[in-house]
Amino acid sequence: MADTHSSPRSVFSPVLIESREHPLRRWLEHFERRDFDDLSLNLTSARSANKRRWKARRIEVNQFRVPIAGLGRELDGLRIVHLTDIHHGLYFSAEALLAAVELANSLEPDVVALTGDFVSYSRNFANSAGELLSGLRARRGVYAVLGNHDFRVGADLVTRALRRHGIEVLRNRHTVIRSGAAQLHIAGVDDLWYNPNLPRALQRIPRGRPVVLLSHNPRIVAAAAHFSVDLVLSGHTHGGQVRLPFLERMRDGNHSPRRFHVGWDSWGRTRIYISRGIGTIVVPVRWACPPEIPVFTLDSRPTPR
Ligand SMILES: [Fe+2]
Repeated sequence: MADTHSSPRSVFSPVLIESREHPLRRWLEHFERRDFDDLSLNLTSARSANKRRWKARRIEVNQFRVPIAGLGRELDGLRIVHLTDIHHGLYFSAEALLAAVELANSLEPDVVALTGDFVSYSRNFANSAGELLSGLRARRGVYAVLGNHDFRVGADLVTRALRRHGIEVLRNRHTVIRSGAAQLHIAGVDDLWYNPNLPRALQRIPRGRPVVLLSHNPRIVAAAAHFSVDLVLSGHTHGGQVRLPFLERMRDGNHSPRRFHVGWDSWGRTRIYISRGIGTIVVPVRWACPPEIPVFTLDSRPTPR
């Protein structure tokens, strides 16, 4: 697919969308760098189990059926459970992450897609995130890409923490899921602000084969469409996280919804879903924007374009 274009990188110019530090960032870093005794939580007690059930109930599960052109019948019905923007740390505890893992497992995934921001500002939570996510159970594997926060604390550190616990990290590369004659390519790119290489992630995928791309930042969508990616799964925006009506009006100005911010959108024949994710950033608050775990059931039946 990728090697059929003479200069594919020319269409893929990462755009810096935001570079200002939040004024609270230094303050948060100060607290997150302290050695919290996070992992000493007794996660097996009955009280903890109740708390986890309560936390899991706050997460919205949205299920979708997604037609994928060229998907073989043997992979029809493949279920992808998508977790993103966990931000394990001061405001997203081990218990909250375990609740999300248990909820994801209850959705009986074939594939779990993790699209980055496993931690916020602290390296101390990387291994803990990997350890807790090792509880994910998916018949065809757990795949991850890194987000901007993972790069900030150390891409290699987070990658090692995930790999150590059996999670396959797709750093500008892809893997193939096979069943009989059917194949689904799952590709992953590094975060948009940290030199992603989409052509490399897709190289040697034969033209016309179905591709699901994991990308933390949804702004990859134009490049993904250029390479005829079928479905992009992203996060990063948290869906706005705090959606106060007057703020929304200020942001949107003309009242038309922003593109590539939350939920479904498309670019050409490429569909994208941007999840609100499950964690929070800057403040541990969500408003009119609940945490979310989307589930995608792939449909092999051809659809008119
Ligand atoms: Fe995030």
